[in-house]
Amino acid sequence: MAEYLSSSKKKVTAPLFFEMKKCGEKISWLTAYDYTTASLLDQAGIDTILVGDSASNVMHGNATTLPITVDEMIFHARAVARAAEHAFVVCDMPFGSYQISEEDGIRNAVRIMKEAGVDGVKLEGGAEIAPMVSKIVAAGIPVCGHLGLTPQSVHQFGGYGLRAKEEAEAEKLIADAKALEAAGCFSIVLEKIPANLAEKVSAIIKCPIIGIGAGNKCDGQVLVYADMLGMNKGFKPKFLRQYADLHSIITDAVGKYVADVKSSDFPNENESY
Ligand code: KIV
Repeated sequence: MAEYLSSSKKKVTAPLFFEMKKCGEKISWLTAYDYTTASLLDQAGIDTILVGDSASNVMHGNATTLPITVDEMIFHARAVARAAEHAFVVCDMPFGSYQISEEDGIRNAVRIMKEAGVDGVKLEGGAEIAPMVSKIVAAGIPVCGHLGLTPQSVHQFGGYGLRAKEEAEAEKLIADAKALEAAGCFSIVLEKIPANLAEKVSAIIKCPIIGIGAGNKCDGQVLVYADMLGMNKGFKPKFLRQYADLHSIITDAVGKYVADVKSSDFPNENESY
């Protein structure tokens, strides 16, 4: 087995990601929003756990990421941070927590770091948020950018389709990535953009580029854990590889439990005091 930079028992750090990019070691990210799931991902050797604002959909059943609050993100992130002995933990700054003013954004980033105990934060947006990103970085907080399909802007986009197909949007995305790099981001997520554009950005930008629906030339990949474990039956976008069918495993197991309770088969003598 290859010697992986990230495979030591030590905690993964933001500077390690730059070394991994330099050495060509791909970086693995998954989302998690609770202690038990985060422990499983950590024990399996994931490099980064993202407490994504997709918690709004996955954990709370909302149609978009917009309703989740800073308090709710801290609630999820604190549980994940407790579980992560090895993985670097990044918490999304939710919609409304950095759009009102720079001061508000910096205050909320500091609050998330202090109260959740995570290792960094992620914000959606490009050049327009770069001045705020550099102030959050100056406060000592590792910041991850997020470009392409930025779900907090879904109402502006009119849906969750592929972004930056046209030349003008692709050019803007490259300029935004350069602005985020200059502002000090330790990594940038690129969501649902053409693979050749993501390859170009990964080559130009020095910080690691983490893709989701952005092809395999990025420096790393991220998926929502519930999607890649097949917990959501209906959600199968082209970019998703499903590694398990937990929907069937869980519903079968629960169905058996219900039947055993109804028939008084559970608990049996050995399961009783
Ligand atoms: O919230 C989230 O899960 C994300 C990933 C899809 C990158 O931002």
